Amino acid sequence: MTDTSINIENLVHNFGGLRAINDISFNINKGELVGLIGPNGCGKSTTFNCISGLIKPTSGKIEIMGKRVNNLRPDEINKLGITRTFQHTRLWKEMTVIENILVPMKNQFSPNPFISLLRPNSKKEKERISEGYKILESLEISHISNNLAANLSGGQSKLVDIARALMGSPNILLLDEPVAGVANLLAEKIFKNLRNLVTNTGISILVIEHNMDFILRLGVDRIIVMDSGKILMEGTSEEVKNNQSVIEAYLGSSIN
Ligand SMILES: Nc1ncnc2c1ncn2[C@@H]1O[C@H](COP(=O)(O)OP(=O)(O)OP(=O)(O)O)[C@@H](O)[C@H]1O
Ligand SMILES: [Mg+2]
Repeated sequence: MTDTSINIENLVHNFGGLRAINDISFNINKGELVGLIGPNGCGKSTTFNCISGLIKPTSGKIEIMGKRVNNLRPDEINKLGITRTFQHTRLWKEMTVIENILVPMKNQFSPNPFISLLRPNSKKEKERISEGYKILESLEISHISNNLAANLSGGQSKLVDIARALMGSPNILLLDEPVAGVANLLAEKIFKNLRNLVTNTGISILVIEHNMDFILRLGVDRIIVMDSGKILMEGTSEEVKNNQSVIEAYLGSSIN
């Protein structure tokens, strides 16, 4: 067994003539909460799409839990214990929160309303339902379990999305801007929950966050800063805050 959850070496991804990812390398270790930040369009979501198998890297190597995944399908990569959320939440609006949570994980990559949902008589489904409620409880949203997804606030939708990604006890969680558009207080609570998850379960979390002040303040273990498809630097919040290239890349946005 390896202590490295994700290993990326010399990853490149081109969209036609546009090089969105330009030779990046980094590791995520077991039990780490790592922030991935960088200005709009620098390649953060594309990196997630390569890791989760939605798009195939142009070149380079991606290993999940020690296994090369470059040519695997999203569902095969998911089976290695990695789940993700999307920048724009993909909930089934006409279903309740608990129903959304119980949708089998393999469908997270291409929502399909025609999947068979619950088979309440099967033991496996009963266990899944109980797991779903436990996760909602751990994120302090069990009170909305029967609400229709269409009626949730932006912050609640984000939490439900995270809850869904936690089904099946993944080893690695990729969160694409889980607190974008969420009020500060709730955003802080979500981050505290992520920290607790890492501490209590040993899961690895890579979280994309656009708000620089926020990620510096909330204290992740490490921050990877991207700019124009490249990695500008990696380091602690303190190191990132004081790095001249980071300050320049973010000129125009505020770093306190
Ligand atoms: N499917 C696509 N086809 C063509 N170009 C794309 C595609 N997806 C992303 N891009 C381009 O690749 C670059 C990186 O985009 P990406 O979405 O990874 O950035 P990001 O860092 O996630 O930005 P944001 O903070 O706005 O979410 C951008 O120039 C974007 O326009
Ligand atoms: Mg993005």
